[in-house]
Amino acid sequence: MTDKIDEAVELRTPVHLRAGGTSVVVAVDGGRLPRILHWGADLGPLGDDALADLHRAALPAIGDSTVTYPQPVPVLPQLAEGWLGRPGLVGDSDGRRWAPKFRHATYRLDDGPALRCTARDPEYGLTADIEIQVLAAGGLVRQRARITNDGASPYRVGGLELALPVPQEASEILDLTGRWALERVPQRRPFHVGEWVRASRGGKPGLEHTLLLVAGEEGFGFREGAVWATHLAWSGNQVLAAERTPAGTRHLAAGEVLLADEVVLGQGESYQSPWQYGSWGVGLDELAARFHRWLRSRPSHPRSPRPVVLNTWEAVYFRHDLATLVALAERGAEAGAERFVLDDGWFLGRRDDTSSLGDWSVDPAVWPDGLEPLVARVRELGMEFGLWFEPEMVNLDSELARVHPEWVFDAGHGPGPSSRYQHVLDLGHPGAYRYLLERMSGLVGSLGIDYIKWDHNRYLTDAGHGAEGRAGVRRQVLQVYRLMAELKAAHPGLEIESCASGGGRIDLGVLEYADRVWPSDCNDPHERLEIQRWTGLLVPPEMQGTHIGAEETHTTHRTHPLDYHAEKALWGHLGVEVNLLTMDDEARGAVARWIAFHKEHRALLHSGAVVHADLADAGLRLEGVVADDRSEALYAFSVVERSATWPPGRIRLPGLDDDLVYTVSAVYPGSPLGMVLPPWQRDGVTLPGRVLRLVGVEAPSLDVDRSVLIRVVSPPAS
Ligand code: DGJ
Repeated sequence: MTDKIDEAVELRTPVHLRAGGTSVVVAVDGGRLPRILHWGADLGPLGDDALADLHRAALPAIGDSTVTYPQPVPVLPQLAEGWLGRPGLVGDSDGRRWAPKFRHATYRLDDGPALRCTARDPEYGLTADIEIQVLAAGGLVRQRARITNDGASPYRVGGLELALPVPQEASEILDLTGRWALERVPQRRPFHVGEWVRASRGGKPGLEHTLLLVAGEEGFGFREGAVWATHLAWSGNQVLAAERTPAGTRHLAAGEVLLADEVVLGQGESYQSPWQYGSWGVGLDELAARFHRWLRSRPSHPRSPRPVVLNTWEAVYFRHDLATLVALAERGAEAGAERFVLDDGWFLGRRDDTSSLGDWSVDPAVWPDGLEPLVARVRELGMEFGLWFEPEMVNLDSELARVHPEWVFDAGHGPGPSSRYQHVLDLGHPGAYRYLLERMSGLVGSLGIDYIKWDHNRYLTDAGHGAEGRAGVRRQVLQVYRLMAELKAAHPGLEIESCASGGGRIDLGVLEYADRVWPSDCNDPHERLEIQRWTGLLVPPEMQGTHIGAEETHTTHRTHPLDYHAEKALWGHLGVEVNLLTMDDEARGAVARWIAFHKEHRALLHSGAVVHADLADAGLRLEGVVADDRSEALYAFSVVERSATWPPGRIRLPGLDDDLVYTVSAVYPGSPLGMVLPPWQRDGVTLPGRVLRLVGVEAPSLDVDRSVLIRVVSPPAS
């Protein structure tokens, strides 16, 4: 068979995928796998001659003696082509078929636009199907690959990573880390030669997961500096990597981390990788806006106004009784809550976190008449009803674990150490899956549950399936997706929140099924400002749960005024988690005022573009939401640290239309105590967007952890 790869190749015209303000130009010549020549700014319409010349112009000056690092970087890099970096496909058949060489590629261009490539390695009997799409809503690029075993011997897939190239200007890497109650802490480093790898191996992305791996121009910010980022739409083990090779290439790779024998393909069987997404922008705001636009364009995106939540967790924890919870619901409804969510503590024997996970029936000791009386009162009050589950988890001290110990994951050494006293149920076991589906579906149906808070608190460290204890993480993720999908299909309108000790399962895989995420168990507004800001790189405000917590935050023991709690909760899917029963009338009145303010601006907050100013002073924050037509905006100016110089100086308002004229005023649904307001705030000012962008307005002088809202409207009121 002729191997055209090593011959001089006649160029075939590259394919130009163009949508949503993004161009992706892909080389498709010579029967080779696709290679992305450009990913980023829209290049405008390009004819065949220009595309052919773009290709020629993009070929590096490599002498005949160099066999390493083919350029441009192939979407699926292969050692057999000389690629010495992170491999695309890792696999083998008992030590054979380990260095695949896909070629004989054929291409098809579909609407979307989407490019589909099928390539074969005839000697190995493997086929690779690669799909590259540019999404019209948002201009994201996404790609995935399917590997099919055409041969008779089983083919074990050890990993499959795809690559999105970034240009040399991308010289700095940003990613996120964190821990319980402090998710999404940014970290930056230079993009040196080598690999910067962020992996999740606990069966979910995790609290420390980066969401996105970003590479950009040195010093990039929210408004400036070209940036490119990748994300894997997958809720299990995974790797995101940024690689710069000695040959000068840079790319962002993403793929699932596969455990021993998780994917062994029989003849004719395939492994499909999750979608790898790529976004780009000038500044992080544009990059994030692409994800937001895409999520908002999906038919499944929540369309109804996001109901203000009352969640019982920090209000009562495990202290459940009908009278208290009815009273809480009544106070919540008075304050304006629209959805009552009964958190952990309602099921058989669950008096604290040491027992009972898995026993998903209402505890008659606490709820002698079931949950029906509570649900009935909640409905009378005009609220929806939500219920907490942690479906994949089990306490060894539970009826379920006693009856079905074989449903608990075990990799050969027993169920492993507990975490929060719990272990993990193997949903790959048909009985366990059926049990959960029946219990959950039964309760959703009989109680008319509108919303599930779906928790997940233990990592999968011992996820062995069946008597042999074979690795079962991948199957677990697929079964969770299936369970969510089946529940939603059986109960149209049911909404799901993805929570995992806070923000431990946030990704575009679970967001195929979940309607919002819980970014963190930390309701401290000082921390929430940052957690929501960085979660917002991927998730739009209406999909981030943001709750008003107690003045003394339970997870940090720091105290803030209620107004600061409420202002930071304003920017997402608002909720209340504070115990309204222990608050005085004045404090409850303040909660009600903030809820009313949120409802007044909810349509803007949940549809507009999220913007952040790049302020020189690290102690200040300015962020906001600008309407799609840029006719209005709401910003929050906050002080998060004391600065060496004072007053804070001018703040320039991002995201407005240069040519519209706006009235700017300070609004504050809370108390203005402790603020020194600049003169313009007395009567407001009316200025063109260009002036607000380039000159700005003086910021108020605030104490630390205080904020002011700034409202901007066009045309100005006459
Ligand atoms: C962890 C979650 O993140 C909390 O919000 C709460 O639901 C508890 N679990 C309940 O046990």
